[in-house]
Amino acid sequence: MAILYRYLARPLLFSLTKLNPEHAHDLTIATLKKLGALPPLLLRLASGSFTVPNAPSLHRQVANLNFPNPVGLAGGFDKNGVAIKALANLGFGFIEVGTVTLRPQPGQDQPRIFRLPASEAVINRMGFNNLGADALALQLKSIWPASIPIGVSIGKNKDTPEVEAAAEYCQALEKIHPFLDYLAINVSSPNTLGLRNLQHYSALTELLTNIQQTLHSLSLTQNTRVKPVFLKISPDLTHSQLIELLTVCESHNISGIIATNTTLNRNGIAVSDAHKASQAGGLSGKPLTKQARDMVALIHKETQGRLPIIGVGGIMTVDDGLRMLDAGASLIQVYTGLVYSGISLIHNINRALLQRHLNR
Ligand SMILES: Cc1cc2nc3c(=O)[nH]c(=O)nc-3n(C[C@H](O)[C@H](O)[C@H](O)COP(=O)(O)O)c2cc1C
Repeated sequence: MAILYRYLARPLLFSLTKLNPEHAHDLTIATLKKLGALPPLLLRLASGSFTVPNAPSLHRQVANLNFPNPVGLAGGFDKNGVAIKALANLGFGFIEVGTVTLRPQPGQDQPRIFRLPASEAVINRMGFNNLGADALALQLKSIWPASIPIGVSIGKNKDTPEVEAAAEYCQALEKIHPFLDYLAINVSSPNTLGLRNLQHYSALTELLTNIQQTLHSLSLTQNTRVKPVFLKISPDLTHSQLIELLTVCESHNISGIIATNTTLNRNGIAVSDAHKASQAGGLSGKPLTKQARDMVALIHKETQGRLPIIGVGGIMTVDDGLRMLDAGASLIQVYTGLVYSGISLIHNINRALLQRHLNR
């Protein structure tokens, strides 16, 4: 079975470079969904070569959650939470699903994902295409509790005015609260007009105040502990905007920062991909590696390590993963690296961490 998976399914998964990128992604999700429907023993056999050993040196405790290893799947890959069962068997230490919005929405017109192969990058302007919070809650209920921590990322619907955003985030949260280990607040996608404004002082203060109130009251009515909340930020914030944002986060007891989302910069694009650089949307992958890592290092320095950081952006190699952790991230996430390096990247980063531990 593992051999079947390795030679048949693996080439199909994650790195379908010849297909239209969105079709490749849909096919990957459909394949993972099928794998997830296998009986548990078969699923474990099928994913045998990708599992990561249960080693204490890989374990992490962040925001009072226990992570079997620090390498997670970034938001946006499994927006509707339909592939969690299979993904949880592929070595990830945690999975972030979504971004989900209160109401279902189709997202932007296609084409809306572009590969820049010479640059090992992707530009996307998906625009939060998703089936909505009710549908995600049903999916999560069907797999709950999961074998690894599950984060749920929420955003706002495209047609919701900024002044109503905080209330809408809270309504989405109410629907999914029983089925998440941590909440991720997405205020950093460049593909929903005005969304990034929610990172600014007064809008962010209002949003975080409302989210914390909702989390506290849901913990009382549902008899759970208060669930941790992470804020996902843009790599394009200026230094002073970042400092202001960190102040608001600390004063609102935010559990941590997810840094970073995609960038509007177009630095680091190879000449042969230059014709695609003008596509609107957020850039991810190799051109983002240093920008995201520098931001993680800056947050770590400015907060003197008080605020846990999930480092994401341009982790394309084992070395990128290790350097993001060294920059101050407690956990890391990968998306575009899966497209160019395949799923073995997760296993390989963990193997390198184990080796590092042994060499100490
Ligand atoms: C096609 C695509 C869709 C994405 N959708 C989301 C999303 O819905 N929510 C989110 O928080 N981030 C989303 N992201 C951003 C990623 O989670 C990640 O922050 C970013 O791509 C940088 O990491 P990477 O270089 O490893 O891809 C998306 C990225 C891509 C490429």
